[in-house]
Amino acid sequence: MLRVDEILRRDGASDELRSVINHILVGCKEIAHKLSQGELAGILGSTETENVQGETQKKLDVISNDVLKHILKQDPNVRGIASEEEDNTVAANDDGKYLVTFDPLDGSSNIDVNLSVGTIFSILEAQGEGSGDNMELFLQSGRNQVAAGYVLYGPSAILVLTTGKGVNFFTLDRHIGEFVLTKEKVCIPEDTKEFAINMSNQRFWEKPMQDYISHCLQGEEGPLGKRYNMRWVASMVAEVHRILVRGGIFMYPWDSRDPGKAGKLRLMYEGNPMSFIVEQACGRSTTGREDIMDIQPTEIHQRVPVVLGSKNEVETVMRYHQEG
Ligand code: AHG
Ligand code: MN
Ligand code: MN
Ligand code: MN
Repeated sequence: MLRVDEILRRDGASDELRSVINHILVGCKEIAHKLSQGELAGILGSTETENVQGETQKKLDVISNDVLKHILKQDPNVRGIASEEEDNTVAANDDGKYLVTFDPLDGSSNIDVNLSVGTIFSILEAQGEGSGDNMELFLQSGRNQVAAGYVLYGPSAILVLTTGKGVNFFTLDRHIGEFVLTKEKVCIPEDTKEFAINMSNQRFWEKPMQDYISHCLQGEEGPLGKRYNMRWVASMVAEVHRILVRGGIFMYPWDSRDPGKAGKLRLMYEGNPMSFIVEQACGRSTTGREDIMDIQPTEIHQRVPVVLGSKNEVETVMRYHQEG
């Protein structure tokens, strides 16, 4: 039985990086515990507040954010944090080497119906000096990530983690309170016949995405020549996990309703960490026109169109964008 920290040591992660990851995981175990209590702890439902994304916050969005913020501020290796649920970046410890960005609770519309949710995190090195509440420190491309991961809170809690040496799965053993290795060097199948997209937004997409999905729906008689299946959990963590396990393509594309026309998902908390994981697991990740991890961020809460998953299928979507 191998614990996360043993794998991190084996893969040559520094003491400082291991400390940051282990602190995040303490927070995730606490979130897993609270989620399992649900109604018993009176933590379902919404607050009366809106986050900076313009979303009404669920009680558990706020609780999960507070759990992670509190634990990360205690780690001397953390310079600062940025979160989907925080308006601004938050300073932790001035001598810390690392910056942590996170989506404390992903798929939070699923909480009240007792379906899968997750936590997504990304770790960057702070370049140079300066307090961790300086937003400029965080504006690094996804290629600079030193680690990324998510915890899927489903029937079991599963940690998926990369430090740039492939992707491993760890399952939370609640008896010993540790994530233990359950699958190594995960590789997403190159081809797929399963897509995931919120079809109700179809009329707001660009033409290349409209064409691709309509060709998927035409099945073996259409130009793609395959009969497709569709899934939509409305929780990116669950969606990406399914793709890591059995292949598939996930899309939250450009959408004409958004002010920045970039779709719904956030680059720093969702796009970049998931792209790092997917690329480390033999997959591909793009906006349709460029690799997500090549984007130079200009704002911590910026949004990004996301197309990721099985390599050949993602490249098919990229061809629709080149031609369209
Ligand atoms: P969050 O709960 O962190 O705000 O993220 C929700 C995201 C993502 O998990 C999911 O893919 C997508 O929103 C679902 O959006 P729709 O409700 O538009 O389907
Ligand atoms: Mn949200
Ligand atoms: Mn999210
Ligand atoms: Mn969230």
